Amino acid sequence: MVRRTHQLAEQHGVLLRTLRVSWDELSDCLDGSPPFDVVFCVGNSLAHAEGASARFDALTAMSRLLSRDGRLVLTSRTWELVRARGTRLDVGHRLVRRQGRDAVVVYNWQIEQRWDEEHHLEIAVAQVASDGSVLTCSERLSCWPFRQEELVSQLHAVGLGVESNTFDPDAENYTVVAVKGDVPEADQRDRP
Ligand SMILES: C[S@@+](CC[C@H](N)C(=O)[O-])C[C@H]1O[C@@H](n2cnc3c(N)ncnc32)[C@H](O)[C@@H]1O
Repeated sequence: MVRRTHQLAEQHGVLLRTLRVSWDELSDCLDGSPPFDVVFCVGNSLAHAEGASARFDALTAMSRLLSRDGRLVLTSRTWELVRARGTRLDVGHRLVRRQGRDAVVVYNWQIEQRWDEEHHLEIAVAQVASDGSVLTCSERLSCWPFRQEELVSQLHAVGLGVESNTFDPDAENYTVVAVKGDVPEADQRDRP
């Protein structure tokens, strides 16, 4: 991802610095740097925080980086839907291109009984070469799902007011934009 970021930055003539740090190292690594106008936490990353308390710490670290009126842009799967479907194998509906080849993506979801348990997702990408041979790579990920309302409540608790939220219980993903500053009174009621 870091290599790809540098490639894209070069293509677009942008100068940028990259750091590879976990959320719990963010504050130390960026201590003393000017506050940021925007922090992105995208690509379903937050569910890799190991449970509610680690998720809260990660959001706290992100919030600390922001200037007043700065925005956190966060995307998430609709975990309510993922959990409701249970343990299953999902085969991608369309071919994707990987390394110049057509590929099929297969998701193996392991859904636990309780929300707060560690869940697993194994993603296999099967690339088909022109001679018919198939090369498969797979990765097993751990994740800790959360409800949308829990996320909103944690955002408020770290001093972020929700500016927009595309959550729709029937849609696969949603995006929340949260602003640093006074959490509106209506939002404060949601604080844990
Ligand atoms: C599905 S990838 C998304 C990557 C990228 N943001 C994107 O949108 O394509 C999930 C990301 O969460 C990151 N992640 C997992 N645990 C993390 C942690 N404790 N601190 C920071 N990042 C973490 C992983 O490094 C990984 O890049």
